[in-house]
Amino acid sequence: MTSNTVDLFSDTSLSERVQTLRQQLQHHGHRYYVLDEPEIPDAEYDRLFTELQALELAHPELSSADSPTRRVGGQPLAQFASVRHAVPMLSIRTETDTLATGAENFDARVRRELGLTPSDPPVEYVAELKFDGLAMNLRYENGVLVSAATRGDGEVGEDVTQNIRTIRQIPLRLNASTATDISAVLEVRGEVYMRRDEFEALNERQREKIARGAKGEKTFVNPRNAAAGGVRQLDPAIAAQRRLSFFAYGLGEVTPAEQGGPTFNTHYDLLMTLKAWGFPVAEQTKVVRGAAELVAFHQHMGETRDQLPYDIDGVVYKVNSLALQRQMGFVTREPRWAVAHKYPAQEQLTTVLGIDVQVGRTGKLTPVAKLAPVFVGGVTVTNATLHNEDEARRKDVRIGDTVIVRRAGDVIPEVVSVVLDKRHGQAEQFTMPRQCPVCGSAAVREEGEADYRCTGGLFCGAQRKEAILHYAHRRAVEIDGLGDKLVELLVDANIIRTLPDLYRLGLTSLAGLERMADKSANNLLEAIEKSKQTTLPRFIFGLGIRHVGEATAKALARHFGQLDAIMNASEDALIEVDDVGPVVAQSIRTFFDQAHNREVVEQLRACGVTWEEVEPAERAPQPLAGKTFVITGTLPTLGRDEAKDLLEAAGGKVAGSVSKKTDYVVAGAEAGSKLTKAIELGVAVLNQEEMLALLGR
Ligand code: IVH
Repeated sequence: MTSNTVDLFSDTSLSERVQTLRQQLQHHGHRYYVLDEPEIPDAEYDRLFTELQALELAHPELSSADSPTRRVGGQPLAQFASVRHAVPMLSIRTETDTLATGAENFDARVRRELGLTPSDPPVEYVAELKFDGLAMNLRYENGVLVSAATRGDGEVGEDVTQNIRTIRQIPLRLNASTATDISAVLEVRGEVYMRRDEFEALNERQREKIARGAKGEKTFVNPRNAAAGGVRQLDPAIAAQRRLSFFAYGLGEVTPAEQGGPTFNTHYDLLMTLKAWGFPVAEQTKVVRGAAELVAFHQHMGETRDQLPYDIDGVVYKVNSLALQRQMGFVTREPRWAVAHKYPAQEQLTTVLGIDVQVGRTGKLTPVAKLAPVFVGGVTVTNATLHNEDEARRKDVRIGDTVIVRRAGDVIPEVVSVVLDKRHGQAEQFTMPRQCPVCGSAAVREEGEADYRCTGGLFCGAQRKEAILHYAHRRAVEIDGLGDKLVELLVDANIIRTLPDLYRLGLTSLAGLERMADKSANNLLEAIEKSKQTTLPRFIFGLGIRHVGEATAKALARHFGQLDAIMNASEDALIEVDDVGPVVAQSIRTFFDQAHNREVVEQLRACGVTWEEVEPAERAPQPLAGKTFVITGTLPTLGRDEAKDLLEAAGGKVAGSVSKKTDYVVAGAEAGSKLTKAIELGVAVLNQEEMLALLGR
């Protein structure tokens, strides 16, 4: 929306428009972040958001603290203020007996305290998840979020409002269908937590920062610590990056019913109302009756907790009837009507028997601690990742050490830390091998990277599948029909070990394979035969040299003309090539310095893989050098790749989007927005015929 249109609104319709936008954004934000059922595309949400932002900027008098635009925006604090809780934040009794008896004992206790006899009906409970995060009190006044505080010591917590506002799942304003739903004061309590995928991504970012030499950065031990750290950030912008989540599970201070506050008969009722007001309530939450159903819930969640996107460390049972809750009351600081029933821990102690280095499909070397078998997070663990050299050194894990191992969900087990008090051995610090443990090729760590990589891409057993798939790719040497599954099959059956083996395949070797009828075997052999006739750029790209993508492969072919010239070029000579910098030049040099890789290239040639060696750049005509093209729509006879190859062979560059720097747009049938843009910018538009003319064809 332009500022002209904004000015067309009169004052009242302007504030109405702002209200409408806020309501729409609140509604769609809730659909997206809480219900995970968006009704409109992201771009439409962004459009509404930008419009509101523009209106608020132009008319500061219309701004409001509960506007969806105001999630992040506060200044960093020097320290957190203290908040006294109007109603103390209690904890719940924890049942550490992780067996069925844990639930049975609780039910028996409740029945005893309520004076029930065996002939009385079963007690009704709400069974919830015990989220592994930190407790939060959210205070709403007249439906608007005014403060958020941590539990602290239960009486006094810290005011973390600025950070909590960045959590998209937490409504800044309650979604109430009628005004009477909203009381003057309503405190919602629940757990702030971090999803496991966000936790992994955060630690990955942290590891990259550490690898780049950033000071004072660390990785986090578990999602709970990362969430707690996020909530306690003094700068709300950093807190926002943590992407925290929230589940509601109860209330704090609420305006009494006689003064217009809400009334509930059961805890479940209350949870469902919180949900209607816009709070996330875990969908697993369930009303159950009697001990047997508590046990079943505990067991079911224990079996499925790995599939949840977040950590839980147990389940919580609460007596459903609020009247019965009141009747039972509290012991010291714990309610008698609730209990947390735990699961076996996801962290355990064990000893390190050795440190191995594993090589991944793409050549990445990962140090792995070999552990004395330990039961953690529901499985026996014997390996735990140390991620990379820096991590291994930072944690300083040594053979013989006692370590904390963590396994949560289906995340790979990892060593959290060493228990230094228990170190007796004289074992040395870990160092990364400089040779690939699988194939013996050089292992190198590039500047600014955290990982060591094996440089024997074509030869290394660990990288076989990936190398073959890449070589066979449509834009590389292209072997039609040789995909993921088939490569898996051929390599696992030991029929193919290195690329040249492809060209030695015969019907007999394929015959025994599962799901390989004669017809498909013949098709595959035909496709392999066809691939022998290729081009130099495709072949170079197909070798899978790190940092050498399609464009670089083309540039190398154009510049050197012949494969041998590339294989023997010094780093200095390689840097002469367009788009090749020191990192790429070094990577190419290292690749061809591996005798094994050269051997594979020679064998491929010996098997009959050929191409027309192109003229070196000095001699080849480059009439389109320096010109940038964009291809759009369907050309009458040329495929898009073909057109691109032709333009590039003549020295042209082919880009993906139109800008002022574009020299020509080649447009075919049903060209869309790129053509419009070209016309707008006054970029020359060619049809296929005109393009060919430009190429002198
Ligand atoms: S109810 C009076 N329900 O576990 C009852 N707590 O000591 C107050 N927690 O730190 C708590 N999930 O943050 C309740 N579904 C759940 C919970 C839960 C996690 C945390 C809570 C508190 C601790 C209980």
